Amino acid sequence: MTFAQYPSLAERVIFVTGGATGIGADIVEAFAQQRARVAFVDLQAEAGDALAERIAARGEPKPLYLRGDVTDIPALQAAIGRARDELGPIGVLVNNAANDRRHKVDDVTVDFWDETQNVNLRHHFFAAQAVRAQMRELGGGSIINMSSTSWRFGASEMPAYATAKAAVLGLTRALARAFGPDNIRVNAIEPGAVMTPKQRQLWYKTEDSVQAMVERQLLRRVLLGEEIARMILFLAADDSRMITKQSFIVDAGLR
Ligand SMILES: NC(=O)c1ccc[n+]([C@@H]2O[C@H](COP(=O)([O-])OP(=O)(O)OC[C@H]3O[C@@H](n4cnc5c(N)ncnc54)[C@H](O)[C@@H]3O)[C@@H](O)[C@H]2O)c1
Repeated sequence: MTFAQYPSLAERVIFVTGGATGIGADIVEAFAQQRARVAFVDLQAEAGDALAERIAARGEPKPLYLRGDVTDIPALQAAIGRARDELGPIGVLVNNAANDRRHKVDDVTVDFWDETQNVNLRHHFFAAQAVRAQMRELGGGSIINMSSTSWRFGASEMPAYATAKAAVLGLTRALARAFGPDNIRVNAIEPGAVMTPKQRQLWYKTEDSVQAMVERQLLRRVLLGEEIARMILFLAADDSRMITKQSFIVDAGLR
């Protein structure tokens, strides 16, 4: 199979949160393949450094890995400032970092609730706020927020996470309206069951459990992070320049 190459993404500065592992790493790789200049922030230093090295070894532009915690808003703002200083104004923001920890309703404390919103929702707003001036400078930009289809099902095994992921869509629509006059587009993606290494390690430990999920999809193949990344490339590229305030489900037709 062959996939699109977007001329408008070459040299574009991209900022990705949670880019060291999982879907975020696939997003970083996909932009590097487009010869974009990528900065990504993540807690996991070893994985972040290794990803940057792996991409550089392929002859693609080496991404700038920044160690950081997206729940620490001043640190996130500083990381965005550093990316700008080193790479130039940010044209694309991918708000991807999250944590889908399972939790039972009866066990949720106020602190747990707040932490869950902070890691899954709050940083989306502050990162968008921080890149706005840079995108204005460029004459426009694209912000892509990661939601999830889990809230549509009513994910009873993680209600605080599902709440945050539903709120990401409200945030997307409000920011699209606020930023539209500056030609800054804001869209969301709702992935289905993406079989990342972490998902396989925690929840889909056997091939049978993976296959059981695949059977629930209309397209009977394992859904991979690179498939989510391809939709993100399209939303980042000029090809989607009149698309904003939308949410796109990429779930292989999960039932
Ligand atoms: N995997 C799926 O099936 C699936 C389904 C629906 C939606 N999503 C969404 O897609 C996105 C990526 O999912 P994933 O499965 O790759 O997640 P993941 O948990 O495997 O990876 C998240 C990345 O974010 C980083 N991160 C977590 N907390 C952080 C923090 N406080 N500061 C900085 N970095 C932090 C992690 O280190 C990791 O590299 C998330 O927004 C998730 O909600 C995933």
